[in-house]
This record gives sequence, structure tokens and C-alpha cells, in this order.
Amino acid sequence: MEAAPSSRCAGASPPTHVAIIMDGNGRWAKARGMPRAAGHQRGADAVRVAVESCRELGIAYLTLYAFSSENWKRPPSEVDDLMSLLRLYLRRELANLHRNGVRIRFIGVREQLADDIVQLIEESEATTAANRALTLTIALNYGSQDEILRAARAIARDVKDNTLAPDAITKQRFEGYLETVGMPDPDLVIRTSGEQRLSNFLLWQSAYAELIFVNANWPDFSRATLEEAIGEFHRRERRYGGTGS
Ligand code: IPE
Ligand code: IPE
Ligand code: MG
Repeated sequence: MEAAPSSRCAGASPPTHVAIIMDGNGRWAKARGMPRAAGHQRGADAVRVAVESCRELGIAYLTLYAFSSENWKRPPSEVDDLMSLLRLYLRRELANLHRNGVRIRFIGVREQLADDIVQLIEESEATTAANRALTLTIALNYGSQDEILRAARAIARDVKDNTLAPDAITKQRFEGYLETVGMPDPDLVIRTSGEQRLSNFLLWQSAYAELIFVNANWPDFSRATLEEAIGEFHRRERRYGGTGS
């Protein structure tokens, strides 16, 4: 069997925006008789691999789904583990990410997060604001339906205040009210662990994204996993409703 060309060998330019639903930490741990927390720890290592690989492959935007607005349903101890890992990741990685020209952004609701996490988020965003090598967006306490509802409420307020005319609410204008304002839509959404759903992630923004589901659990995600997904992306024909080539 002929090996699939890697994204680089194929000579095609990389997708501009890759978004990843990092799933399967719990199953990774369970398969090894380890606690779920151990899976999350290894998942944090995979984040490092993903960021580094995207930077090396010349991907401009990487968005990672780290904690959904529905993940509060998990036992408090697991939520604590996930938040502690995020703290650890940001404290450990910020200097390195900054040195490598990574800009960090967060999407999601900050109000329910611990004060020190909000501080870390703000510090990471401020420190790296001028970086341009890769924009790393972390979706934390993020839910797409909630994002769209909040946009609708803000628009309704502006219409009520007479600062916005209903007919002026175009797609572009609407997108200005989303948290992803200024970011191109994802070209490619990857979900690990074999699950095939979006779980409330970037629903508006992924209208024409290519969806790629890989069987590997998130802690096993590697540069090779990413390159395979990008190879598959290049083999797809994006038609945007047209008739194609
Ligand atoms: C992804 O792994 C991490 C988060 C959703 C925060 P899971 O914890 O969902 O792992 P599974 O799906 O139980 O295997
Ligand atoms: C989606 O994974 C959320 C994140 C990866 C942060 P979940 O594991 O929470 O999704 P469901 O519950 O299987 O849909
Ligand atoms: Mg899961």
C-alpha cells in the first residue's frame, strides 16, 4: 500500500485554522487501569505536542476545546483536576509559548472561573498579544449555543438602543458579536477518541469546516496524527454548496 503523502510532501499549503475537540482522556486512563486524572495529565502533554506541531507546520490558528460549559456536570474533584492542570500548563508554558511567538486567546465564559485562573488568562493574553507565529485559542467554559445566545442578546440591546438597525444585521455584523471575532473560521475540526459529534463546539464557525474523526484518544495524539488528518483534509473537495471541480 502506498503511504499517504504527508501534508508537507504533498506541497499543499496547510489549513489556516485547525480546531480540535480533545477527547478520550478518561478512556485512555481506564484502558490502563489508571485514574481519569492521569489521563488528563497525559492530555496536557499532548497539548504541548499539538501546539508545537502546528507551529512547525505553519498553521496560523489552533483552537483547542479544553472545557465545555457542560463539563461542570462532572464530579467536582474532576473539575478541580482539570482546572489545576490548566493552571499548571499556563504557568509552565507561558514563557516558552511567548518565546516561540504564540499568541494566546481564550473563548468561553470567565465569570464562573476561579479568580486566579482569570488572572492567568488575562496575563497570558496580555503577554502574548503581539505574537504572530500561531494564535492558540483555548475554549474554556465554552459552549457554542451560549455564545450565539449572548450575541443575540447583545444585538437585541443595540437594536433597542437604536445603535443598530435590524436590516444591518448581516453575517459579518453578527460575527462581530461572537467571541471568535477577527478569527477565520476553522478549515478543519478534528475530534479524537472516535466520537463523532461536535458537543457544542464552534457550531456557527464550523458551517463549512471539514470534520475529521480519529480513533486515537487525546493523550496519544502525535504529530503523525495531525499530519494524517491534514493529509485527509487535502484529499477532500470543499464545495461550499457549488458543483465542485
Ligand atoms: C477529554 O477527555 C477532556 C475533557 C472533556 C475535559 P474526557 O475526559 O472526555 O475523556 P472520555 O471521553 O471520558 O474518555
Ligand atoms: C467535549 O468532550 C468537550 C471537550 C473536549 C472539552 P466531552 O467528553 O465533554 O463530550 P461528550 O460529553 O462526550 O459529548
Ligand atoms: Mg469525553
